[in-house]
Amino acid sequence: MRRRDLLAGTAAILASGGPAAAGVAVLTGEQAHAAMLRRLGIGALRPGVDGMNPGAANPVNYDEARAGPFSLLPDPLALPDGTPVRDAKTWWDVRRPQILEAFAREIHGRVPRGLPAPAWRTVKEERVSWGGRTVVERRLAGDVTRHGRSVAIDLLVGAPEGAAKAPVVIELGFPDGPPWLRGRTPPLGPDWRDAVIARGWGYAIYAPTSVQPDDPGKLQDGIIGLANRGRPRDPEDWGALRAWAWGVSRVLDLLEADPAVDARRAAVAGMSRYGKAALLAMAYEPRLAAGYIASSGEGGAKLHRRRRGEQVENLAAVGEHHWMAGNFLRYAGPLTADDLPVDAHSLIALVAPRPLFIGTGADATDGWVDARGMFMAAAAASPVYELLGAGGLDRAAFPPPLTLTAGDHLVFRQHAEGHTPAPNWPYFLEFAARAFRRAA
Ligand code: GCU
Repeated sequence: MRRRDLLAGTAAILASGGPAAAGVAVLTGEQAHAAMLRRLGIGALRPGVDGMNPGAANPVNYDEARAGPFSLLPDPLALPDGTPVRDAKTWWDVRRPQILEAFAREIHGRVPRGLPAPAWRTVKEERVSWGGRTVVERRLAGDVTRHGRSVAIDLLVGAPEGAAKAPVVIELGFPDGPPWLRGRTPPLGPDWRDAVIARGWGYAIYAPTSVQPDDPGKLQDGIIGLANRGRPRDPEDWGALRAWAWGVSRVLDLLEADPAVDARRAAVAGMSRYGKAALLAMAYEPRLAAGYIASSGEGGAKLHRRRRGEQVENLAAVGEHHWMAGNFLRYAGPLTADDLPVDAHSLIALVAPRPLFIGTGADATDGWVDARGMFMAAAAASPVYELLGAGGLDRAAFPPPLTLTAGDHLVFRQHAEGHTPAPNWPYFLEFAARAFRRAA
């Protein structure tokens, strides 16, 4: 089968001149997807739902009566043989590793062993102004090099001038500003950086795509290609979400050595696909003290088992499949979301008891991410928070928009302004401030 893939891709390597290993074809996104399906012995997948065109054969569902979940969620506090987990030690020593293993094998893929640490260099240092204060801002590149391949982690770090051991917020985003705003007037109102700096904290803006391109046709590039010498992925190899989260850990390594900030009080924030990656970072990186997970939806905080908004089948389609491990494609045929050994609540449970803010736009303007499906996942993760001595969600009933649930560890809020993290930033920063005070 491998040989056939190789022949099929030869045309592609000639066309792209990409960096695959000698004799290995560079696959387009379509080819990488098809090759993975062949590896898995799958003929075809069910199509994703169409969120754009209500007249489509398979339109997205927004009818709560048909949303489910229609199967039981896997219990994070039960061992596979049904034995309940009643104490923190069994959670940490037995149950949590089982859940991590299920995510690695079935959903996110495994981080390769022995990746080299980045060598950081300062590209530029300047004084800028945010939140009415002078900020020392550095643009850094973290070079990861192996087998003649290299990746440069792109990072911007700023802290108030003279800061020492300041809390820091790491955003998965765009060090040069969001590309869709380039050349346009920035939105009215303060940037989250103004608010962070006004509090005396630092910020880091990390570009996930510098670690792994957001492109199914570039799975042989980036850190994934660096780790496996440009070969097509195996079914348990990591996808882009896991790679993007790995980058957050490398940023944290760097911040640990920066006297201006206190890496023990570092929060991570991300929106939409970067919200998914920020949630993975919280789950896999125990050093992160708090997380703001905005409009993360399917593959993030939303239950896969919900038949509302984006679906497993969308993630498993060509255009998004590179976010996931190859094995995940099986859940879009022959398996279904109901066969997953874990769900989004299990991912949130991996974060417990650390503070997590799940934010989103409300259904009317951000329906694709399924606000209620994210709330349900947080509610189902709450028993793990409680077992570990932290409060879970303060309620079982879905709150109306603009309601911040109470608590210091797991909270939820919907705003009414669409697919954007902006309106929830002030609420998150207040939540993080409490977390940082406890950690000081
Ligand atoms: C698409 C995708 C979502 C993703 C979003 C984004 O809508 O289906 O899963 O979160 O893009 O990143 O903006």
